[in-house]
Amino acid sequence: MKTKTTQSPTLAARYIANGELVAFPTETVYGLGANIFNEDAIKKIFEAKGRPSDNPLIAHIADLSQLNSITSEIPPVAKKLIEEFFPGPLTLVLPKHKTVPAIATAGLNTIGVRMPSHPIAQQLLRACGVPLVAPSANLSGRPSPTTWQAVREDLSGRIACILQGNQTKVGLESTVVDCTGDKPRVLRAGGVTLEQLQAVVPETELAAHDDSSAPKSPGTKYRHYSPHAQVFVANFPQHIVPGNEAAFIGIDPPSPVEAFQKTLLCKDIAEYAHSLFQFFRECDDAGIKTIYCQAVSESGLGLALMDRIRRAAHE
Ligand code: TXA
Ligand code: MG
Repeated sequence: MKTKTTQSPTLAARYIANGELVAFPTETVYGLGANIFNEDAIKKIFEAKGRPSDNPLIAHIADLSQLNSITSEIPPVAKKLIEEFFPGPLTLVLPKHKTVPAIATAGLNTIGVRMPSHPIAQQLLRACGVPLVAPSANLSGRPSPTTWQAVREDLSGRIACILQGNQTKVGLESTVVDCTGDKPRVLRAGGVTLEQLQAVVPETELAAHDDSSAPKSPGTKYRHYSPHAQVFVANFPQHIVPGNEAAFIGIDPPSPVEAFQKTLLCKDIAEYAHSLFQFFRECDDAGIKTIYCQAVSESGLGLALMDRIRRAAHE
């Protein structure tokens, strides 16, 4: 299949209407979209990515009126979070409407929903007129794409269309919050921080990794976000003794900095998060063998950042 690249949301929407897949920018990472009501199109997502079929997809909506067509109930706590954080990098897990095909949610009776704030994502969703299910637009196991070129690298020839935009702003995926229990539970840390959620709903908590009563975010059990290079968490950048073909990403310079073939120093945690996945891909292109990532405090966006770094390091 020849993959069309375009800047036109209207053209991209035609591919969706024809049951094809379109990769598109959001404020977090690029997504790979299909019409939520088209089972055959959704099947193509799992095929194109090599994604395990027990990993549910997130529904993307243009406005709140689309929420009723895909959910069966909106708990009061979800209403509060919607009011505060939609549109934005927050996914809420809610009871699913029966018209949504089972394949979209991997058979679960809940559905993750988010309203992206990115203008191009909004234009695409409005042009489609239906919600789109969309996982990150990478091959399964690879770092999520933050540029359209990264999408092309992974999925060229496997999808119909790439809707182009700039490098994504947040650089990490959305926060996934389960709203079906007695209190909101963060299943995946992401672009909206735990502190921000707790400012609106104080009883919001992190789902424990080993909590079997929590409905898991099935995707978090898979190997994720991995470059080909081996990733290490560096607690003290100044003490690293790198081998050949090593790279460093962080905030404080390692010493001596010349010992690294490639370094990226970020001014703060937001810039570090924004750059991480792209840095991983650039390291792979440069033949880097080991990547040292500076450990940061697990507060604010640092929680999501350290989650992605640890996964990449297989910790
Ligand atoms: O920022 C994002 O969320 C991006 C952009 C494209 O929107 N999407 C994304 O999708 O990261 P994906 O498929 O790569 O990750 C979705 C995560 C997985 O961990 C999945 O298991 C979880 O959300 N998830 C989806 N639906 C769920 C549900 N009903 N219950 C629990 N977890 C769910
Ligand atoms: Mg993903």
